[in-house]
Amino acid sequence: MRTLITNGTVVNADGSTQADVLIDGETIVAVGRGLAGTDLAAGVGRTVDAGGKYVIPGAIDVHTHMELPFGGTFAKDTFETGTRAAAFGGTTTIIDFAVQSRGKSLREGLDAWMAKAEGNATTDYGFHMIMSDVNDATLAEMDTLVGEGVTDFKLFTAYPGVFFSDDGAIFRALQQTAKNGGLIMMHAENGLAIDVVAADYVAQGKTDPYYHGVVRYPIFEGEATNRVIRLAEAAGAPVYIVHLSAREALSEVRAARDRGAMAFAETCPQYLFLSLDDLGNGFNGAKFVCSPPLRPKDHWDELWAGLRRDDLQVVSTDHCPFDFETQKQLGQGDFRKVPNGLPGVEDRVDLLHDGGVATGRLTKERWVEVVSAAPARMFGLAGRKGVVAAGADADLVVYDPQRKRTISAESHHMNVDYSCYEGRVVTGGSDIVLSRGRVVVENDEWHGEKGWGRFLKRRTAREYLT
Ligand code: URP
Ligand code: ZN
Ligand code: ZN
Repeated sequence: MRTLITNGTVVNADGSTQADVLIDGETIVAVGRGLAGTDLAAGVGRTVDAGGKYVIPGAIDVHTHMELPFGGTFAKDTFETGTRAAAFGGTTTIIDFAVQSRGKSLREGLDAWMAKAEGNATTDYGFHMIMSDVNDATLAEMDTLVGEGVTDFKLFTAYPGVFFSDDGAIFRALQQTAKNGGLIMMHAENGLAIDVVAADYVAQGKTDPYYHGVVRYPIFEGEATNRVIRLAEAAGAPVYIVHLSAREALSEVRAARDRGAMAFAETCPQYLFLSLDDLGNGFNGAKFVCSPPLRPKDHWDELWAGLRRDDLQVVSTDHCPFDFETQKQLGQGDFRKVPNGLPGVEDRVDLLHDGGVATGRLTKERWVEVVSAAPARMFGLAGRKGVVAAGADADLVVYDPQRKRTISAESHHMNVDYSCYEGRVVTGGSDIVLSRGRVVVENDEWHGEKGWGRFLKRRTAREYLT
């Protein structure tokens, strides 16, 4: 089946142009002006008029947690519901985190996550691997996984007793990726220091969710960010800081990049649009408990500047949804027991358009870059995803920059009972979303299919990370 998208403004990270886009099967075969009248367009089955709209590459969310077992419960979105919700919001690829359980192999963890996704995901997906144990066996397995397209490994200086790794373990993993071309992704907060402060607050009876945001000092994020970047420099490996939230961490990334270190970072919409204030309001604040926590509003402008200046390369979501009415209640009486994580996979593209492009903070090209092109480049999907160009997968969004939507749990598609952005009106929305040439969303209706999504065997991206 051939499809022609005409009259739109094709927006890529490196520029925008008025052009038609011709799709044959699952692939873009031509991008150019006036394709409609040419031989190339012979046999077109459907023509979509994108006049007044953008045609952008399907967005890529490189940080999601579908079905993550965490905090005594499971993140509620499955690969089916989560990828479907993502697609409604213009995201056509996710890279989720498979988890190695302590004492088990990386392979067992990866197999378990493959089984969750295969036959269920509605759009394409890849995996990073969370490493819980670093030892000779798991280090050797890293090389194998890199060869199988699972090229990144997340370690944590946070969550002692759960995912925490000490500096020696982190350094060994960095040394291994220096050799095998993979990438270490770091959750950088000083979890040991945080636990000391958190215990003090609980002992004083300060148990509300608000204190989750107080005890995880920004300086603890800055310290851990500096430490893991320095370890990466010593190992000669690139490092990618996940979900960066605080100016103290951003300044460490900026300083590292200025001295030529291979340091990269993402932030998330919650750190650009939500704040410590949201953690107030009694137990309602549990809806906003995630780690690193939401920061005071005066961090926002610096994160936006970081995105403009490329100190931050990517915006992902860290989508990790827990129902408020049941799962978040586990933290009644002790903020340390609130499952950490927020929903967001559906709203990232529109929030970044609304708060970035519509306000003039980001150009539309930079918007496409941080939600789609840079994630593709940095996670081994360049040429295939994240670009509107001949030869790329036809993951495309016909995006209406004028469309208005009120975000609400009543209308969202994520499998969770609240929205962090309830009532917020955003400008910009996805009219038509295609996954490998197939229309999966059109005018707010679902046309996709469980199991349509394929596992993405990714290349290493060292050429973009050095
Ligand atoms: O609060 C969060 N971020 N939950 C998900 C797990 C993680 O640390 O990414
Ligand atoms: Zn994390
Ligand atoms: Zn995460």
